Amino acid sequence: MPKVKVGFVGVGGIAAVHMRNIAKNPDATIAAVCDIAEENARRAGEEYGATAYTDFDVMLSIEKLDALFICVPPFAHGDMEEKAARLGIHLMVEKPVGLNIESVENKYEAIKNAGILCATGYCLRYLDTVAIAKEFLSGKEIAMVRGYYLTSFVKTPWFRQMEKSGGQLVEQATHIVDLMRYLAGDIVSVSAQMNLHVLKDIPGMNIPDVSSIDFTFATKAVGHLDCSLTQTDHRMGVEVLGNGFRVEVNGKDVTIIDGEKTTTYTSKVDFYEIQDHAFIDAVKTKNKDFILSSYENGLKTLHVTLAANRSNEKGKIVQL
Ligand SMILES: NC(=O)c1ccc[n+]([C@@H]2O[C@H](COP(=O)([O-])OP(=O)(O)OC[C@H]3O[C@@H](n4cnc5c(N)ncnc54)[C@H](O)[C@@H]3O)[C@@H](O)[C@H]2O)c1
Repeated sequence: MPKVKVGFVGVGGIAAVHMRNIAKNPDATIAAVCDIAEENARRAGEEYGATAYTDFDVMLSIEKLDALFICVPPFAHGDMEEKAARLGIHLMVEKPVGLNIESVENKYEAIKNAGILCATGYCLRYLDTVAIAKEFLSGKEIAMVRGYYLTSFVKTPWFRQMEKSGGQLVEQATHIVDLMRYLAGDIVSVSAQMNLHVLKDIPGMNIPDVSSIDFTFATKAVGHLDCSLTQTDHRMGVEVLGNGFRVEVNGKDVTIIDGEKTTTYTSKVDFYEIQDHAFIDAVKTKNKDFILSSYENGLKTLHVTLAANRSNEKGKIVQL
């Protein structure tokens, strides 16, 4: 069977990781790369023997791609998904899938109508340890979910601008909101407090550096997430509590405390690699079951994070 011909749009930080994984995959080849920064496009093209473009429309009109990785910043998606979907190109879209619900819902319609496969970059779902946590929690009643994403400031220029990134929760801690949803189910209400408190002096900064968010799940479980950009190290995780048990996801590792028994599982995988290989397997076999985060899932997680931003602005609980 011929190799899956892959294109990339946006070849900055995260695309470098995906390109490395795709280049290693014997079932795929990087045919074309596109970036509005000519130097980035040229460098990626040379590194992977792919044709480099600075114009997305030109790339689509010349290349016959099977799959496309969309790795542009959140504000820059334009109508890339719609254009690729019309050509029947399968998509891997980085999180967050956008910043505006109406536009993301339009993209979701286009993806459904085209019948293409679409994965979204919620890579924590692909951890071997998260699979163990999910299996343990299956069928159990969850009482409470506690999350944290406490890290340092990201220097990427667009990240600090609310209108370009959506802020830390939408852009970054979205991984933890998604993991909460993966382990504990849908979220139905959100109440948030956010503040730009101690990093005000960073030039151009207008996103909160601290966020505290309360959730209610469809099951009536309650949840909470703390996010901050004020640290020098990086910690992220989720704790899921039930009657006499808890599951702690701490970075990539998982500890299950079940009554008197405590078991820790150390992850042995590279979640980006597993995710990228799963996407190629899905495209190769036309089987969406390889994909653990669909576009619809990315849309649902975006609903929650944007609702939290609204709750903070209005000082009210937002129902979903
Ligand atoms: N899943 C993860 O763990 C993970 C990690 C990092 C970033 N991301 C996500 O990936 C996306 C990109 O982040 P990044 O850190 O790689 O950003 P980046 O700024 O390093 O790279 C983005 C690239 O896109 C290019 N670009 C911007 N607009 C474009 C356009 N219209 N057409 C073509 N190219 C364009 C830029 O020139 C740049 O090279 C973000 O949504 C981010 O949240 C995901």
